[in-house]
Amino acid sequence: MEETPHEVRTFRTGNEEETRDLAARLSRLLVPGDVLLLAGELGTGKTCFVKGLAEGLGVQEKVLSPTFTLLREYRGRVPLYHLDAYRLKGPEDLFDLGLEEYLGGEGILAVEWGDRVRGFFKEEYLEVEISFAGETDERRIRLLPGGSSWERRLRRLDGGDP
Ligand SMILES: Nc1ncnc2c1ncn2[C@@H]1O[C@H](COP(=O)(O)OP(=O)(O)OP(=O)(O)O)[C@@H](O)[C@H]1O
Ligand SMILES: [Mg+2]
Repeated sequence: MEETPHEVRTFRTGNEEETRDLAARLSRLLVPGDVLLLAGELGTGKTCFVKGLAEGLGVQEKVLSPTFTLLREYRGRVPLYHLDAYRLKGPEDLFDLGLEEYLGGEGILAVEWGDRVRGFFKEEYLEVEISFAGETDERRIRLLPGGSSWERRLRRLDGGDP
């Protein structure tokens, strides 16, 4: 069995609202320049998680799936950039997007299918891995810190599995 580093935090949600709540709580730990990579099969709740981040960041606009637009920008306390890497072949596709503009700056970048483009991100990131669990509305959400700052910050998040 794959060994799980203890820094990984695992949560279970029973419906969409609980997933949004978890994301909203996580949003309080975010600082400008942060990158979140969202992984998980179709329909697990990646967009739902970003909706919760947006709520937590005080975004008023409705968050839509960025599948066809690739990148959407929302105005909250800090800007939220929402990218969908579903149609990208790999990290190299991100270089063509001029994404540097969104990195290490004022905003938070959340990337659906982010595990496909992980190699693009040189700085720290948090990986959010969502999977189906048990009954139809249950999800397992693992938060995997990519860097020591995220290890520290995740300790401030209450709840989750022991
Ligand atoms: N516990 C849960 N957490 C999140 N979403 C849930 C949960 N239970 C049920 N759902 C439903 O699952 C769906 C998740 O859709 P969402 O668009 O967020 O997934 P996605 O991972 O972004 O999909 P895609 O890969 O197509 O982008 C929604 O219809 C939501 O209502
Ligand atoms: Mg989605």
